[in-house]
Amino acid sequence: MKRIGILSLGAFAPPKRLTNADLERTVDTTDEWIVRRTGIRERRIAEGMNASDLAVEAARACLAGRAERPDLVVASSSTAETSCPYQASRIAHALALESPAAFDVNAACSGLVYSLAIASSLMRSGPFRRALVTAGEKMSLFTDYTDRTSCILFGDGGAAALLTDEGWEHELTDWELGCEPWGAELVRMGDRQGNPNFWQDGKQVFKFAVQTLERVLGILRTRAGLAPGDRYFVVPHQANLRVAEAVAEQTGLPMERFVMNVQRYGNTSSASIGLALEEAAREGRFRAGDTVFLIGFGGGLSWAGATLKW
Ligand code: UT7
Repeated sequence: MKRIGILSLGAFAPPKRLTNADLERTVDTTDEWIVRRTGIRERRIAEGMNASDLAVEAARACLAGRAERPDLVVASSSTAETSCPYQASRIAHALALESPAAFDVNAACSGLVYSLAIASSLMRSGPFRRALVTAGEKMSLFTDYTDRTSCILFGDGGAAALLTDEGWEHELTDWELGCEPWGAELVRMGDRQGNPNFWQDGKQVFKFAVQTLERVLGILRTRAGLAPGDRYFVVPHQANLRVAEAVAEQTGLPMERFVMNVQRYGNTSSASIGLALEEAAREGRFRAGDTVFLIGFGGGLSWAGATLKW
């Protein structure tokens, strides 16, 4: 069986910042409320860029200086500007790739982890040797900036990972995917007319998020066979700082082991885990031998976990 791992990571956040102070001027909210309930202080907004452009920029960063050319492109997005051309084909075109297999995945906020699982499985069972996995999300497209309950949450961003079957640095050893159909209607967005119509049952989804993060972490941790004293980190979907804080309290895992940057980027749907992972890797937060669990949850209600050996 081929062993698959991550060779490089890339991320892109558009330069325009939308701060809590900016939102205080447009809706009935306060910086204090937003920080206390979510941890978010600012987010990035893509101006003049579509979701696929954000994925392309992240992919360029991921492939910069590398000779490897992907033969498979799996693109996660729930905010793609068109259904056709689909996002993976736009990315392959922008990067001038030569006849890769290319398709999109939409599993809402869990989409990047779903895509890593799908790409690595295709690589193990098929001819593919180098997979570009991306997430490009323009959440601002569907955000209603008159609705204070949701407009404070979201930002735009892109992320990318290059998976290879040799020479990788961080092996992808395990994954776990699922969906809770009973909650299918609890997060809604995107009516193809481009209306800013995001809606969620925040309280129910919060409960699901905390339970799911703890449960999937438990599953992956058990299967990883960690010895006492082995260091591990969790990179959760960046929806709300309080979700991680609740799981930290329940599990006793200190907050330093949760990789969080929701404070600076808000919720970027499926791009969020990639943005957080790339930043932590670049800052040298992980060391060889660490285990890193990526855990997504969100609309669907979907969930997805993956294990990386650093
Ligand atoms: O990415 C997909 C996964 N999504 C998630 O994981 C999201 C999970 N849910 C959450 O993160 C939280 O539920 C929210 C951040 C969305 C909301 O926080 P909450 O603590 O559940 O607040 P709430 O909706 O219960 O609202 C509490 C109060 C309400 O006022 P009343 O009814 O108590 O008078 C709201 O009207 O806060 C009010 N409120 C606000 N006040 C100031 C709601 N939004 C705001 C706001 N500023 N922006």
